[in-house]
Amino acid sequence: MTARQMAEGIELARLAAIVESSDDAIISTGLDGEIQSWNRAAEHIFGYTAEEAIGRHISFLAPEDLWLEESELLQRIGQGEHVQHYRTRRLHKDGRLLALSLSLSPIRAHGQIVGASTISRDISERRRIEELLARQTLELQRSNAELERFAYVASHDLQEPLRTITSFIQLLARRYKGRLDADADEFIAFAVDGANRMKSLIQGLLAYSRVGRRGADEEQVDLGELVDRVIADHDLVIAESGATVLRRDLPIVTGNPTELRQVFHNLIGNCLKFRSEAPPEIQIGAERRDSAWLVTVQDNGIGIDPEYFDRIFLVFQRLHGPGQYPGTGIGLAICSKIIQARGGEIWVSSRPGEGAAFHFTLPDLPLPMIGAP
Ligand SMILES: Nc1ncnc2c1ncn2[C@@H]1O[C@H](COP(=O)(O)OP(=O)(O)OP(=O)(O)O)[C@@H](O)[C@H]1O
Ligand SMILES: [Mg+2]
Repeated sequence: MTARQMAEGIELARLAAIVESSDDAIISTGLDGEIQSWNRAAEHIFGYTAEEAIGRHISFLAPEDLWLEESELLQRIGQGEHVQHYRTRRLHKDGRLLALSLSLSPIRAHGQIVGASTISRDISERRRIEELLARQTLELQRSNAELERFAYVASHDLQEPLRTITSFIQLLARRYKGRLDADADEFIAFAVDGANRMKSLIQGLLAYSRVGRRGADEEQVDLGELVDRVIADHDLVIAESGATVLRRDLPIVTGNPTELRQVFHNLIGNCLKFRSEAPPEIQIGAERRDSAWLVTVQDNGIGIDPEYFDRIFLVFQRLHGPGQYPGTGIGLAICSKIIQARGGEIWVSSRPGEGAAFHFTLPDLPLPMIGAP
C-alpha cells in the first residue's frame, strides 16, 4: 500500500465515523433513487436496519401522497441543485408519521453527478412544540379578548342599577337624617359610602378594560408639553402641599396622547398622594436606553416595601385602606397595561420612608403612517 493510499484510507475511515456518529439520518442514493448507504441515525429515525433499507427505492419511506416527491427532489439534485431544510413527512417502520427537515446535495465522481446524499433531521418534536405554542398563543389571545369584553360589559351594565341604588340611598339620607334613630343615620351613611366606593371601582374597571379598545390612535406626542398639562391639573394639591415639581427635558415620542396622559396623571397623582411629612419633591425626567426612552417619575414620599413591588401593579391592589389615602388601586394597573401594550415595561424602585421612583420604557416605534410623505 502506498503512503497516499494509506492517507486516503484514514480519511475515508474518518468520514465514515462522522457519518455513523451523526444524530441526523444520512442516506446516499443513486440518481435512480436506489439506497446505497444508511447510517445508524437512519436506523434509529426510520426504524429500518441498513440491511433492510439498502437496495430499496428511497420513496418507500414516503407516505402515499408524497410518493413522487423523492423523484422530483432527485431530479433537482441531478441538475446540480442543492436543497436545504426542506420540510416534509416520512413514515417510520411502525407506521408513525415523522416530520423531517431534508437537506440534499449531489454526490460527484470525476466531475459527474452520480447520486444524492440526503440528511434528514427529525423535527417531529419541534413541530409538536411549535404547534402547541401556536395553539396556546391563540387560546390566550382569545381568552384575553373575552375577559376584556366581559370586564367591559359587566362594569358598563353594573353602572345602571348602581345609579338607582345610589340615588335612592341619597334620597333616604336627605329625607330621613335625624328623623330615625342614631343607628339608622349611621347605617345610611355606611350604605352611601359603600355605593360611592362601588361606583369608583366600577369606573376603574371600565377605564381599565377600555385601554387599547379605541385602537391605536398614535401620533407624535411632545411629552414635555403633556406633562406640563398634567402638572397644571394638580395645581391645587401642589399649592396646598407646598410641593416642588421639577420637570426635566422630555422627548417627543410616538404614542397615544390620551393614554400617555393617563400614565403621567396617575404617577404624578400618586407622588402627591403618598407623600410623607415633608413637602413633596417630584422629579420627572427621561434618558436614552438602547432603542427606547426610559422615563422616571420620582418622589420623596412614604416609599414602598420591596415585598409589594409586583403587587401594586395589579388591579385593585393597594397597600392602604381607603380611609388612609383615597383611591381604588386601579391607577398602576392601567399604567402597566398601557405601557405593555406599547411594548414597554414599567417598574418601581423604592425603600419604605425614602420615596419611590417609577420607571417605564417607551421603545422607539416607526413614525405613524398618517400624514407621512
Ligand atoms: N409614589 C408612591 N409612593 C408610595 N406608594 C405608592 C406610590 N404609588 C403607588 N403606591 C402604592 O401602590 C398602590 C397602588 O397604586 P395605584 O395608583 O394603582 O392605586 P391608588 O393610587 O391607590 O388608587 P387610584 O390610582 O385608583 O386612584 C397604592 O395604593 C400605594 O399603596
Ligand atoms: Mg393612583
